[in-house]
Amino acid sequence: MKIDIITLFPEMFDSPLSHSMMKRAIEKDLLEVNMVNFRRFGSGKHQHVDDTPYGGGAGMLLKPEPIFQSIEEINQRSPMTNKRIILMDPAGKPFDQSMAEEFSQEEHLVFICGHYEGYDERIRSLVTDEVSLGDYVLTGGELASMVMMDAAVRLIPGVLGNEVSAETDSHSSGLLEHPHYTRPAEYKGMAVPEVLMNGNHKLIEEWRHMESLKRTFERRPDMLEKRKLTDQEKAWIKQWQEKD
Ligand code: ADE
Repeated sequence: MKIDIITLFPEMFDSPLSHSMMKRAIEKDLLEVNMVNFRRFGSGKHQHVDDTPYGGGAGMLLKPEPIFQSIEEINQRSPMTNKRIILMDPAGKPFDQSMAEEFSQEEHLVFICGHYEGYDERIRSLVTDEVSLGDYVLTGGELASMVMMDAAVRLIPGVLGNEVSAETDSHSSGLLEHPHYTRPAEYKGMAVPEVLMNGNHKLIEEWRHMESLKRTFERRPDMLEKRKLTDQEKAWIKQWQEKD
């Protein structure tokens, strides 16, 4: 996968790209990341990339030309790739695991990171997606794009050592992950559930399924509204509701 990041602060990406999963993906040639500092396309002696809004009002807006020219440069460098061009915007569609899965299957992602009050509206004509990390406002799109990149890159086949672990992640199944335990069997009076130690895989699977559902029911009931529940799951939930 290729990723281009259009940003005024390319150095912000040095650390995430040189550690852990993203470092590994780059070393394995599964990922190539390139920075486009759009200051290069700013206007005048001071290479301005922002300006005041027509019609008045507070704050500055990113001018269209530097972003259009950045995309042009990327298109010239990689003319043949299928590109997903993603605008970082708190007013965009909220990022989630299914978006991470979609992004992980793309040939070429381009993230546009703004750092001002907003974008000149014409910049939106360039993009395929407008995405928000969540319902809060960050100083810029850089941190948001790093999170999205990380979530997508770890799903590229061959990046994670153990493919199974991505499939059982919280969120990928529509349920939160069940509790996990490792040695010792008892610690500070807290014992590992008996079922995990008896080697009965069918019982263990059933326990994990139930605990996943229970955790989701208790912490994120909103996730269950989107899920088609099995009869078994409905029965478990009824039990917990009656207990309250
Ligand atoms: N830029 C500023 N806030 C943001 C957010 N929540 N998501 C994506 N980009 C942003």
